[in-house]
Amino acid sequence: MNIVLGVSGGIAAYKAVMVARLLAEEGHDVHIVPTEDALHFVGKPTWEAISRHPVTTSVHENVAEVRHVALGQQADLVIVAPATANTLAKMATGIADNLLGTTLLATQAPVLVAPAMHTQMWLHPATQANMATLRSRGVQVIGPDKGRLTGADSGPGRMSEPAEIVQRAIELLAAREAHGDLAGVRIVVSAGGTREPIDPVRYIGNRSSGRQGGALAQAAAARGATVTVLAANVEDAVLAEIADLPAVDIEQVGTAADLQEAVQRHADSADVIVMAAAVADYRVESVHDTKLRKEEASGPVLSLELVENPDILRGLVAARRPGQIIVGFAAETASDEDALLELGRSKLARKGVDLLAVNAVGWTQGFESTENTLYVLAAGGELVATASGTKREAADGLLDAIAGLPGRQKL
Ligand code: C5P
Repeated sequence: MNIVLGVSGGIAAYKAVMVARLLAEEGHDVHIVPTEDALHFVGKPTWEAISRHPVTTSVHENVAEVRHVALGQQADLVIVAPATANTLAKMATGIADNLLGTTLLATQAPVLVAPAMHTQMWLHPATQANMATLRSRGVQVIGPDKGRLTGADSGPGRMSEPAEIVQRAIELLAAREAHGDLAGVRIVVSAGGTREPIDPVRYIGNRSSGRQGGALAQAAAARGATVTVLAANVEDAVLAEIADLPAVDIEQVGTAADLQEAVQRHADSADVIVMAAAVADYRVESVHDTKLRKEEASGPVLSLELVENPDILRGLVAARRPGQIIVGFAAETASDEDALLELGRSKLARKGVDLLAVNAVGWTQGFESTENTLYVLAAGGELVATASGTKREAADGLLDAIAGLPGRQKL
């Protein structure tokens, strides 16, 4: 496999020599991309001798080969070890002022970072915020370990050991090989939350950001699927992450009725439909043409008549064509895991879906978070997977369950 090893300027760069060596011993083709600073710790000749490839930090060398993007495009995996606070910050904002930065922006391969820095720098809110951003984009993180740092002190900040980094890299490569598993599969994902208008300026909505749906689209595309995202009021930052993916199409919808129309239009050609959107169960019966004014209200109580929306999921299940997989979501407030699964099982029975992804939500849980736990129930009610971690990791866990459904030859 083709591996890019980015090395940024920390003392742990000397340990990255071992990472390169172990990867080469495993038979991988390793391209080293140091930053200018990294070369103060370990020089070019070492990297060239170990990788047997020319090494440069600059985008201005080997321009004819378009090296600044070619390395990233050809990579099966990009590792950054050590990843300094500075390089992580640049990655989080997409700064590409050196060959490592352009390589990271040009790659579609998994990225593994091994942070290494002084404890205070690691714990600084800026670094932690950058890590959260990177994690939410699917960047894999190993370490840092706790232990002795360069000075006399110790704490979290030590780069993970080379053997551990290499082990994780090998696992990621194996997962990538397996993850062409949705090649050619057409998936429709609904994401976000519908908004039901009251008048031209107000609506009844919910707190769904669309992050989990966006992560599903990203993960499915990375596994070879063609994805249509029906985006109901999805946050701009989530849309931005999927907008440029060649295998992902986005269609924006507003209300439950819009979503129903769109999903029905796409259902015929879909192999898999995942209804991750939070759909309003009710809408305002008569939407006001003009803004409802307090002065015109009849007293201190305002009543709105709500009427039930159609259950889109049940409609899809009723019209399902043979072999089509339909997956529902259930966001529930429950006191514990058993209660959560009980609620999930009764919903599963009502909806008739192939899989139901159940997750716990609450005032402080589920919505703003970048992490999630999905309990995946199969049609019979059995718990077939617990997919947790970042929303991207949870998405991959759910896709594993979809790909593993028995009797689905095509997947
Ligand atoms: O019934 P409940 O809203 O709890 O079920 C959640 C699941 O049903 C989600 O997959 C959601 O997208 C879907 N749903 C729907 N149509 C509705 C309400 C929910 O498809 N009117």
